[in-house]
Amino acid sequence: MIELQHLSKRYGGGRKAQPVHALDDLCLSVPAGCLYGLLGPNGAGKTTALRILCTLLAPDGGSVQVAGIDALAQPRAVRRLLGYVAQEVALDKILTGRELLQLQGDLYHLRPADRDGRIDELTALLAMNDWIDRRCGTYSGGMRRRLDLAAGLLHRPKVLVLDEPTVGLDIESRSAIWQVLRQLRDQGTTVLLSSHYLEEVDALADRLAILEAGRVIAEGPPQQLKAALGGDRVTLRVREFSDAEEAEQVRRLLEDCQGVSRVVVNRAQGFSLNLVVDDDGVVERLRRQLAEARLPVFALSQSRPSLDDVYLQATGRTLMDAELSVAGLRDAKAERKQAMR
Ligand SMILES: Nc1ncnc2c1ncn2[C@@H]1O[C@H](COP(=O)(O)OP(=O)(O)OP(=O)(O)O)[C@@H](O)[C@H]1O
Ligand SMILES: [Mg+2]
Repeated sequence: MIELQHLSKRYGGGRKAQPVHALDDLCLSVPAGCLYGLLGPNGAGKTTALRILCTLLAPDGGSVQVAGIDALAQPRAVRRLLGYVAQEVALDKILTGRELLQLQGDLYHLRPADRDGRIDELTALLAMNDWIDRRCGTYSGGMRRRLDLAAGLLHRPKVLVLDEPTVGLDIESRSAIWQVLRQLRDQGTTVLLSSHYLEEVDALADRLAILEAGRVIAEGPPQQLKAALGGDRVTLRVREFSDAEEAEQVRRLLEDCQGVSRVVVNRAQGFSLNLVVDDDGVVERLRRQLAEARLPVFALSQSRPSLDDVYLQATGRTLMDAELSVAGLRDAKAERKQAMR
């Protein structure tokens, strides 16, 4: 239903600024009737890819097809098939939710009777009865997100594209939104959404792609991606290493340990070690080996592979660490700005 082929997109790159390669040969295929998740840290290119798909942004290279229609050649035809719920939507504060949906219906040239019937349907589906006639300015985050979703669904799109539909919502609102998305998928709608919540996408999406620096680094059904990683995951924290060389020595030591099939040094957060182990006895052997090397373990956890392990395997860091490093950059920039003032 959706075919993105070799998409590239650069932002900026004037005389002084370095261009940002937001998408770098990105390829993605979403089958019809699939609930598809797009994961990736801040700045990975999720919003850029979704905006290009929805014809809101032109790529520098590559092709976009929706239901076999070339989106770059026939953007209007593609827009009729798509519903798009953006990452940040500025709602008019004065209008009520119902008035806003009516306006949206008019933009899609729905007949007033159809439009109002559809608004009633969506109000029931998304449990908006109690507040749909209140002004949007009074809505909570979860209410706003549901109204955004209703606006995206108003013209019964074949393909629904949502940029972080559940961000910042409480668990109850998140699961309500996922329930609606699954219901739509069951009725034949193709749903593509981006998210930062690994567990949510793991549990609820049919397939997913993990993006990193504008490329797809892992793709498939969540179970398959995790199963491909094999044995259990062990995360070990020992005292901080004095340098990368010492960490590398310990990595080699552990890798030689019987039953350990792979060791990744996780450089963020004071060098933890992520291991893949093949049998249960291995944990005790590891403790002994590390104690002999005078590196006592002060935290250890063991679990089945998760999507974060899929990410770690592909990039050498966990998704959470990737997000922290972006947040760190942002904080540093903000501090610099503050200092300049
Ligand atoms: N209008 C713009 N001008 C310049 N750079 C941009 C612009 N929009 C996005 N970028 C850059 O492109 C890269 C990808 O951004 P994008 O918004 O697609 O990421 P994302 O995966 O949606 O991130 P997030 O999870 O934070 O929403 C980032 O490095 C970002 O700074
Ligand atoms: Mg985004």
